Amino acid sequence: MAKAAEYLLELEKNDFRILQAIEVGMRTSEYVSLETIVEFSKLRVDQVIHRLDKLHFLELIFRWKGNYLGYQLTHHGYDVLAFRALSERDSIVAIGLPIGRGKESDVFLAYNATQEVLVAKIHRVGRPSFQRSKKLRSYIGKRSHLNWLYKSRLSAEREFQGLEIAHKIKAKTPRAIDHNRHIIIMEFFEGKELVESSAIKKPLALFNGIISEIRKLVVEGGIVHGDLSAYNVIITPENDFLLIDFPQFEPMDHPNSHELLLRDITNICKFFKRKYKLQANPQEIFKQIIAEYEEKLQKKTKRKKG
Ligand SMILES: Nc1ncnc2c1ncn2[C@@H]1O[C@H](COP(=O)(O)OP(=O)(O)OP(=O)(O)O)[C@@H](O)[C@H]1O
Ligand SMILES: [Mg+2]
Repeated sequence: MAKAAEYLLELEKNDFRILQAIEVGMRTSEYVSLETIVEFSKLRVDQVIHRLDKLHFLELIFRWKGNYLGYQLTHHGYDVLAFRALSERDSIVAIGLPIGRGKESDVFLAYNATQEVLVAKIHRVGRPSFQRSKKLRSYIGKRSHLNWLYKSRLSAEREFQGLEIAHKIKAKTPRAIDHNRHIIIMEFFEGKELVESSAIKKPLALFNGIISEIRKLVVEGGIVHGDLSAYNVIITPENDFLLIDFPQFEPMDHPNSHELLLRDITNICKFFKRKYKLQANPQEIFKQIIAEYEEKLQKKTKRKKG
């Protein structure tokens, strides 16, 4: 159970004000001083001190004893702020069981007021994972001093954006419903990751279907998934599939887009070759998709000129 969910009910308005004050303070300093918290929260010092003790006890903040006394949000503290915002606008009313823990995310079931089952994906960038952090650099750019809180938020915003583009072109992905800070809410799909699915009846049809979605994202959506593998394809009980995990998508005009596209295609081809002895040439598929994409671009520019 997400710790944040348990605490939402225990906290009062002024507790949230303090958490928010620390959040704002963390934009400019690693550890936020008591004076800053008092200033940003507009509460009296004694009130702040009393509540800081409570929040510290609940492990929602971290207390640093250096040359001054400073505070940081913990992951739980940041979760609380995001879940509160999402529940205030009724995107979710409850959080359920965990369904996945990735390298840089925690994924939970969530419910809205009509008891629809949704997914809350909490981005946690900054857990030790050098590779992913390297990938993230492309959109963090020069702002590399940013801490986990901002990196996680950027990652969530990015994924939300990717899912929205995919949804617009009716690609097979979960619909993104809402996001706040480092959490996104999306549709839930029952199923298993492709890598764990043993009973694929028509592997060739599935393979073609996945390639066709990759093509669609590129040609119609102008994006490349960027992290596609058998781990990020969900097979539903109806033998349909979905592509998930979009924070690393790139637009096709990004300098790395071709490299990413070839890697995505190669990952899928390799999986089907290993598991289903299916022969496919990633280079050929790649060339074909790029050719189609460029043809479409040319038509667009002609139309603009004409
Ligand atoms: N919309 C969804 N419906 C059902 N299950 C989902 C959904 N989104 C995520 N999951 C489950 O949670 C797992 C982790 O989600 P996701 O792949 O998006 O992030 P991630 O694996 O943490 O990213 P990475 O490990 O690449 O850092 C998935 O493999 C899947 O089992
Ligand atoms: Mg994944």
